Amino acid sequence: MKIVLAYSGGLDTSVALHWLRERYDAEVIAFCADIGQLEPLDDVRDRALRTGASTVRAEPLVDRFLTDFALPALQAHARYQNKYLLAAPLSRPLIAQRMVELAHELGADAVAHGATGKGNDQVRFHASVVALDPRLKVLAPVIDWELTSREDELAYAEKHDIPVSVHKEKPYSIDTNIWGTSIECGDLDDIALPPPPDAWQLTRDPRDAPDEPTRVRVGFVAGTPVSLDGVRLGLPDLVRQLNNLAAAQGIGRIDIIESRIVGFKSRGIYEAPAATVLMAAHAELESLVLDRETLHHKQALALRYAELVYYGYWFSNLRRAMNAFVENLQSAVTGEVVLDLYKGGCTVVSRESPHSLYRRGLATYDAGDEFDHRAGAGFAYVWSLPLIRPEMA
Ligand code: ARG
Ligand code: SIN
Repeated sequence: MKIVLAYSGGLDTSVALHWLRERYDAEVIAFCADIGQLEPLDDVRDRALRTGASTVRAEPLVDRFLTDFALPALQAHARYQNKYLLAAPLSRPLIAQRMVELAHELGADAVAHGATGKGNDQVRFHASVVALDPRLKVLAPVIDWELTSREDELAYAEKHDIPVSVHKEKPYSIDTNIWGTSIECGDLDDIALPPPPDAWQLTRDPRDAPDEPTRVRVGFVAGTPVSLDGVRLGLPDLVRQLNNLAAAQGIGRIDIIESRIVGFKSRGIYEAPAATVLMAAHAELESLVLDRETLHHKQALALRYAELVYYGYWFSNLRRAMNAFVENLQSAVTGEVVLDLYKGGCTVVSRESPHSLYRRGLATYDAGDEFDHRAGAGFAYVWSLPLIRPEMA
C-alpha cells in the first residue's frame, strides 16, 4: 500500500507517519505544503525522512495558495460569521488537491491527514478529496489510533525513535499560513476571559502600536492587489509586506465564538493583518465601481460564500458558480485606495478608479448641482404609490 500523508512536522503527523507505516505495512509519502507557515521547510523534510517517509515532497505553494484560493475569497469578501477571514479553511482544499495529484502521479491508494474527529479540518480534507477523486481512500490516523493523549503520543514517539520538534510546544493549537493564523485550545477555552497576551502570534497589542498612523496606498488591477505605495509587487511579496506593516499596528485580530461544522461551538482567536486591510480596500473600490443592485447582491452572497469555504465545500458547484459571478465583476475593480492603519483599526482615507461611478455634479448640494430636482420629486411620488393602503386613501 502507498499513502500520501499531509505532513506538518508536528507531533501528530510525525506519529501518524510512523503509525501508518506499521498499521498498513505501507510506503508513506510525506507531503509538506509551504504556504507561508513559520517552521523552516528543511527541518520538516529532515524530520519526515528520519521518521521513515519513503519520499518527501516539500513544495513552495504560497503563490498558488494566494492566487487560486485566498484571492477569490478576498474578492468575494468571504468572512464566516461576518468576522473570520478563513485562512485555515482556504488552505485545506489546496493541500487536498495536491495530495490527490500526488496520489495519481505516484500511484498511491490512499491519502491521509492528521486532523482530529471533532474538528472542521477533518471534514474539509475529506470533502475536498472526495470531490476530486471519490475512489481514493482518506485515512485519519489520529482518529483511528489507540493513543488518547499527548503523553501517549510522546511515549509512542520515544519508543519508536521519532524525532519531535525541539521547541517547547506552545500551550495552544496553532495553524499558520501567509493569509492568517488561528489559535485555539488551552486557556482560550475559558470564554469568560480575554485571550492571554501570549496567545497572539503575529500582531502587536494595539495599545503598544505607534502613536502615528501608518498610511498605505494599495493599488488594484481587475480585482487583484498589484502595488503597495506605488511599488508594483507580486501577490506573495505584497501580502508579506502588508502583513508586517499591519501587524505592527495591531490590525486583524478577532476573538470569536464559532459554530463548527461538527455541531458544537468553540472559541478561537485569529490574526489576519494583510487580509483585513486588503478586504477593506477591495470593498471600498467595489463600492465605487459597482452599481447599487450588483453591489447589494454581492454583499448578500458574501456570507454564503464564506459558509461554503468554512464547510469544506470549496469544490462544490455552488461555490464555483458564485465565484464565476464574483469574477465577472472584477474587471472594473481597478484603482487605488489609501488607508490609515492605526492602533488596531484600518480606515479608508481616499479612493480613486478609472471606472468610478461617482459623479460629483449629481452628488453635490453646492453650486454646480446637475441633479434634476423636479424629476426627483416625480420619482418620489411614483415610488410611494405601492405604500398607500386603500383604507388610508
Ligand atoms: N477552527 C478553525 C477553523 O475551523 C481553525 C482550524 C485550525 N486548524 C488546526 N489544525 N489548528 O477554521
Ligand atoms: C483538529 O481538530 O484537527 C483541528 C481543529 C479543527 O479542525 O477545527
